[in-house]
Amino acid sequence: MCGIIGYIGKKPAFPALLSGLKRMEYRGYDSYGFCVLNNEKEPFFHKKVGKISEAEPELLNLEVKGNIGQAHTRWATTGAVTDQNAHPHWDCKKNIFLIHNGIIENHKDLREKLIKEGHEFSSETDTEVLSHLVEKYLDGNLEEALQKTLREVRGTYGIVLLAKDDPQKIVTARLSSPVILGIGQDEFLVASDPSAIITHTRQVINLDDNEIAVLKPDNFFILKEKPTVSIEWTPEEADKKDYPHFMLKEIMEEPETIENAIRGRLMPEEGTVKLGGLDKVAERLKDINKLILVACGTANYASRVGKYMLEEYAGIPTSVDIGSEFRYRKPIIDENTAAIFVSQSGETADTLAGLKEMKKKNVLTIGITNVVGSTQSRETETGVYTRSGPEIAVASTKAFLGQLSTLAMFAVYFGRQRNMSLVMGKRVVSELSKLPELAKSILNLAPDIKKLAEKYKEFENFWFIGRKYNFPIALEGALKLKEISYLHAEGVAGGELKHGPLALIQDNFPTIAICTSDSVYEKMVSNIEEVKARGGPVMAIATEGDERIKELVDDVIYIPKTLEMLTPILSVIPLHLFAYYMADLLGRNVDKPRNLAKSVTVE
Ligand code: F6R
Repeated sequence: MCGIIGYIGKKPAFPALLSGLKRMEYRGYDSYGFCVLNNEKEPFFHKKVGKISEAEPELLNLEVKGNIGQAHTRWATTGAVTDQNAHPHWDCKKNIFLIHNGIIENHKDLREKLIKEGHEFSSETDTEVLSHLVEKYLDGNLEEALQKTLREVRGTYGIVLLAKDDPQKIVTARLSSPVILGIGQDEFLVASDPSAIITHTRQVINLDDNEIAVLKPDNFFILKEKPTVSIEWTPEEADKKDYPHFMLKEIMEEPETIENAIRGRLMPEEGTVKLGGLDKVAERLKDINKLILVACGTANYASRVGKYMLEEYAGIPTSVDIGSEFRYRKPIIDENTAAIFVSQSGETADTLAGLKEMKKKNVLTIGITNVVGSTQSRETETGVYTRSGPEIAVASTKAFLGQLSTLAMFAVYFGRQRNMSLVMGKRVVSELSKLPELAKSILNLAPDIKKLAEKYKEFENFWFIGRKYNFPIALEGALKLKEISYLHAEGVAGGELKHGPLALIQDNFPTIAICTSDSVYEKMVSNIEEVKARGGPVMAIATEGDERIKELVDDVIYIPKTLEMLTPILSVIPLHLFAYYMADLLGRNVDKPRNLAKSVTVE
């Protein structure tokens, strides 16, 4: 949730920390803070409420000496958004400086105990107990003090720790919050997010749960030897280029995202797909007769589309769970159940909690993940990367396309292992291969969609309706609109309108209807008629060539024809553009909507 970074090396630490923080600001951004150690005088520390990008010009004027430091960007969980609650947090002597991503669940008890022992607190945060515990246990060795501290805490953490009395060292630790070590030329970095360090190095080590690492100016050690891996993204990919917002850039990359997801994986002659991660467990997969998909938010909607695909094409009973609910229910599983976890970041705490639970029960766990080396990709038994590249805007767009394309390939893979015919396999594979071009043609409609946003931005409430494969797309369209434009939007299955939502329909409550030419077209037309009969304006997403719909609705966006199971991959693109333009026209902070953060690493 929060972003953490540490730097130790030959160069000045402050510029590295500042640029790292800026690159991570999308993760959490109500306040920020720095500490830089300096051999000659007192450490520099500075923490404040506000956005790092806005404070940057002022910060660039500061003369900050020192080659070792830490920085943090906060998304408040415990304690209000105030300067005092921003990180770093220190001990009574201002010797220990600590930044933290995660939650310390037993912080209240620890705080009470520490206060009784004479410690004085200066913030309301859970994190501050860590600084005082390190102070309590510090007896010449910082890493040992942190080790003892962590034995007392319950919760999750990615920590970067400095001590003024030991200024040649950074100590870092993790439990269920991401921490990577960057191995650069004459410098080492530690961060919660690859984008923070990518301009320094692409050689990283992923710290595992319960590991502690110590970084010194010319060496580092972890409790056990670990191989380095390469970050696959280039710094340019994580750049906005000439786009006004990352979100628009990422929507414009959607055709490429589909292409990357399917590249080298389609086998047109055999009518199947090659997914290395699944091949590894191919024999076990043949016996699977129940699938559980677990994911949150947008990834959950992708999974709901996946359920329709897997049940129709592979014939496997499939359930979909929201991560935060799954962890508290008692799923019925047996040795023939597999659980698939879908996540862009691979760090979503609620999804990871479900994964832990399934591992305990020996269920085969499979990841559909974007971020290479993320916790989900390492903790699942096997998995498939969506290869969507870095997604920086808080609202997920292109990653959704990567997830849908991957799930469609899963349906083919499982289907061909079972009853799907060669002819049907060839058909789906062939239609999948055409999607990038079809998606590109939808992007050409961007100016028309912007004009529609001009018209619809006057409204404050929206229904999104769809059926079957496009029901989850209605949910996704509504989520995207509400999270970045702050307008009220609800997604509902078209058939559900008459069971309640119709009561709200009037001329100031438009409906966005996904009404593509497929097996539920006539049913959707009836639902649209129900809305029109009550005076509600309707904008439809329809299939090219459908003239009838024009007579029925106020506005139409046409998308090209594809197989019914693949329509969501196209129908969602105009909805992403629509949400983007609405939010932009309303002057919203599109890439960083209020109250939200990318990668939700707390429960
Ligand atoms: C919505 C959005 C969120 C994420 C959700 C899961 O636009 O971005 O709903 O989809 O927080 O995140 P990941 O996919 O990283 O697990």
